[in-house]
Amino acid sequence: MKEAPVQHELLLAARTARLGNETAFEVLSKARALEAQGSSIIHLEIGEPDFSTPANIVEAGVDALRAGWTHYGPSAGLLELRQAIAGHVGSTHGIDVSPDEVVVVPGAKPILFFTMLALIEEGDEVIYPNPGFPIYESMINYTGGKAVPIPLREEREFAMDVVEMAALITDRTRLIILNSPQNPTGGVLQRSDIEQLAQAIGDRNIMVLSDEIYTRLQFEGQPFSILQVPGMRDRTILLDGFSKTYAMTGWRIGYGVMRADLAAHITRLMTNSNSCTASFTQIAAIEALRGDQSAVDRMRAEFQRRLEVFTAGLNGIQGFRCRMPRGAFYAFPNITATGWKSRPLADALLEDAGVAALSGASFGQFGEGYLRFSVANSIENLHQALERIGKWAKENL
Ligand SMILES: Cc1ncc(COP(=O)(O)O)c(C=O)c1O
Repeated sequence: MKEAPVQHELLLAARTARLGNETAFEVLSKARALEAQGSSIIHLEIGEPDFSTPANIVEAGVDALRAGWTHYGPSAGLLELRQAIAGHVGSTHGIDVSPDEVVVVPGAKPILFFTMLALIEEGDEVIYPNPGFPIYESMINYTGGKAVPIPLREEREFAMDVVEMAALITDRTRLIILNSPQNPTGGVLQRSDIEQLAQAIGDRNIMVLSDEIYTRLQFEGQPFSILQVPGMRDRTILLDGFSKTYAMTGWRIGYGVMRADLAAHITRLMTNSNSCTASFTQIAAIEALRGDQSAVDRMRAEFQRRLEVFTAGLNGIQGFRCRMPRGAFYAFPNITATGWKSRPLADALLEDAGVAALSGASFGQFGEGYLRFSVANSIENLHQALERIGKWAKENL
C-alpha cells in the first residue's frame, strides 16, 4: 500500500501575519464575481482615474519600446528622469533639488515600503492619519513599528488637529506620515497646520513622510508641503508619482525625494527587490513631466465636477451626509444616521443595490461611520449609482 504524502505545515515568518491588505482590491474581485453571475455593478471602489493615459505619454512609451528601452537601467532611475523630477519638485516647492535626492520606483507604494524598512526598528512609533491609506498601518505593523493613529475628524474637514498630533509625539516617535490631499477623506492640510506641526517637531530627529500623490488634484489654493518649511528638508521624504496625476496606475511608476544619504539606501533596497523601474516607462514619465499638462487640468476639473454632483446627490439621500472634498477623487459620506455600520452597509449596497463602495473602517478605526466612493466613473454612472443608493435607502431605512 502506498503511504499518504506528508502534509507539510506552512511555517510563515511571524511578520507575515502582521501584513495588512487593501480592501479596494478585495471588493473589486467580489464585485467582478457578482458580475460574472449576471449582476450589474457600478464600480466606485477602486482608486484609479478612469481616463486613459494622455496620448503624448503613451506615444513616448511606445516609441521608447521601439527604440530599445527594454533593458535594465540604474536602480535609482534614469538620470534624465531624475533630473526632470528634481526640476519639477524644485519648481513646485520653491527649493533646489538635485537628482541624487531622487529615487524612481515602480509605483509610489515602494517608497512607503522601503522608507519603513530603512527607518523603522522594532517598537519605533509611527504617527499616521486614520482614516488613511491602509498601506501605512500595514507597513508600520509589518516592520515591527508601533502604529500611533492621529484621528482625522469631519468637523475639522478631515485635517489633523495639530495640538492632538503634538501630544502624540514621544521619545520613541521615529516617523510621521502626512497625506494631503488625503485618501479617503479629501481633506487638505493648510500651510498653518504644517508650520505648526514643524514647530511641534522642533529639533527632534523625527522623519516625516509627506505623501503628495494627490497634490495636482487639489481644487483650491496652492498645495503647501512640509518640505518647504525651513529646517525640515533633511527630515522629509516626499512621495509622489504618476499614477493619479497622469492616469498611469498600470504603468507602475512613482518616486521619492529625500536627502541623498537616505536615497542611497532606498536605492539599495531597489537593487535588492526590483533591480530598477521599467526603462520605457521612465521615458514615458519624462514626457509626462515635460510635455503638455492640459490633460492634468482637465482631469482635475472633471473630478471636481463629479464630486460636486455626487456629494449633492448623496446629501439628498436619507441617512447620508457628505462634505465636498477639497481634493483627490473620493466622496466620504457620514452614514451614521442610517443606523448601519460601515462594512455591512457597503456589503448591502454591493449585493442589493449593485454599487461597489468601500467601508470607511477599511481605512482604520476612525473611518467607522463612513463609506468611500471613488468618482472615477462617468457622470451618467454616478447618477445611476445615486438612484440605486436612494432606492435602496427608501426600501431599507
Ligand atoms: C494616499 C496614497 N498613497 C500612495 C498610493 C500609491 O500609489 P501607486 O499606485 O503609484 O503605488 C495611493 C494609491 O491609491 C494612495 O491613495
